[in-house]
Amino acid sequence: MIPENTGPAAVIVLAAGAGTRMKSRTPKILHEIGGLSMVGHALRAARSINPQRLAIVVRHERDLVESHVAALDPQAVIVDQDDIPGTGRAVEAALQALHAEQDLAGTVVVTYGDVPLLSAELLTELVATHERDGNAVTVLTAVLDDATGYGRILRGEDGSVTGIREHKDATEAERLIREVNSGIYAFDAAVLREALGKVTTDNAQGEKYLTDVLGLARESGGRVAAVVTADRWQVEGANDRVQLAALGAELNRRTVEAWMRAGVTVVDPATTWIDSSVTLDEDVRLLPNTQLHGATSVARDAVVGPDTTLTDVTVGEGATVIRTHGSGSVIGPRAAVGPFTYLRPGTVLGEKGKIGAFYETKNVTIGRGSKLSHLGYAGDAEIGEDTNIGCGNITANYDGEKKHRTVIGSGVRTGSNTVFVAPVTVGDGAYSGAGAVIRKDVPAGALALSVAAQRNAEGWVPANRPGTRSAELAQAATKDSSSTPASTEEGK
Ligand code: UD1
Ligand code: CA
Repeated sequence: MIPENTGPAAVIVLAAGAGTRMKSRTPKILHEIGGLSMVGHALRAARSINPQRLAIVVRHERDLVESHVAALDPQAVIVDQDDIPGTGRAVEAALQALHAEQDLAGTVVVTYGDVPLLSAELLTELVATHERDGNAVTVLTAVLDDATGYGRILRGEDGSVTGIREHKDATEAERLIREVNSGIYAFDAAVLREALGKVTTDNAQGEKYLTDVLGLARESGGRVAAVVTADRWQVEGANDRVQLAALGAELNRRTVEAWMRAGVTVVDPATTWIDSSVTLDEDVRLLPNTQLHGATSVARDAVVGPDTTLTDVTVGEGATVIRTHGSGSVIGPRAAVGPFTYLRPGTVLGEKGKIGAFYETKNVTIGRGSKLSHLGYAGDAEIGEDTNIGCGNITANYDGEKKHRTVIGSGVRTGSNTVFVAPVTVGDGAYSGAGAVIRKDVPAGALALSVAAQRNAEGWVPANRPGTRSAELAQAATKDSSSTPASTEEGK
């Protein structure tokens, strides 16, 4: 079979606008929803239709935008727009940069850098309709309740698209039209190039309007048509942070719904946030208030949440992760984490291992079946298999200048409040006593004790704190204990 690789000749993403309503030092299109910048979403949609070339037109904060785009999509051609304003000018600049004069033929798609919910499916449908019908221009439109600000779609008696009128240039009658221009189009490259040559800045905004191409294409005999979408979210742009949040919530709603349809249980979709980059297996359960970010993946039968935030965390099959804040970590199959656990980068928990309540971990590899159940810190360490780390243990890894490693073997049992002063090594099967401060290596099978023997100064409290409640109770207890055998006898 011959591989089919017949995407459009080019996609041009428009992104030169200033985005002042965002009121931000960050360029508008770099603001994120679903864990990816708006322009990241736009580039992904553009790539999905497999264009031979992809150009993005920049101007405002062009250096920041350029480096961001280069990191996301190194093949994208960055095009600078000059002082002449307007979407038509932006496209003209892109055509020039793509050497349109020589070799650009076929379909050219135009999209916006600030319309993040546009899907691969809808863009594919636009191109397919355009090419199937042999159109000169195909514009993506939507019918809105409030069309204020948008370019209106003009149609003739027979219903065919005759042109687009910008809101500021429209008559009262034209402003009643509710079908709007999304700003997303498929063009025939030759028609586009020729028409743009005739577009002027003679309008209410003194801009070179891309929308003028439709009327010009029709005048020169080309077919102009529209694909009307019923899904307004896909053509919606974010101009301010209110719209950004609304688009972010809608994107999340779609992502969560898609995962539910793929077999993931989501107990509370409204408080579950999943980045577009996350992967989940069937029969994963997500409990309320869970946020999954970045390259997080969760395997079959694992339960995550409630109240858990994971960024770049791999959760193994059947693991449970409760009330946890984690990043850059691996949680093994059937392992248990939480509640109230802080996993920092480099934590690797083995199969059936446990990191329990009020634990912080960083750069630590924990072997299969080992447990760090409560209250402690484990960092720059390696722990073997089936080891039990007692309550309140700490790896003292930092000497004030450098970090050092702690190596603990398999089958180890440590007493509560053991401190490992790194660098230090504990052999297999060793034990430590409660409160031990381990400064020297512990050989396999040894019991490490470092605390001075306990001394009881008997009668100290009644002698030194006479008349206190403690002294009173102490005196009563001492009397009781000396008379206990007798009183027990008496009681019988
Ligand atoms: C444009 C359309 C309008 C449509 C609306 C949809 C024109 C003349 N009008 O409106 O019919 O309903 O989009 O949102 O095309 N841009 C550049 N260079 C420029 C100007 C804009 O790259 O000189 C980019 C912007 O960054 C943005 C997009 O083009 O991504 C649209 O610009 P914007 O000013 O928001 O749209 P309008 O011109 O108001
Ligand atoms: Ca706009």
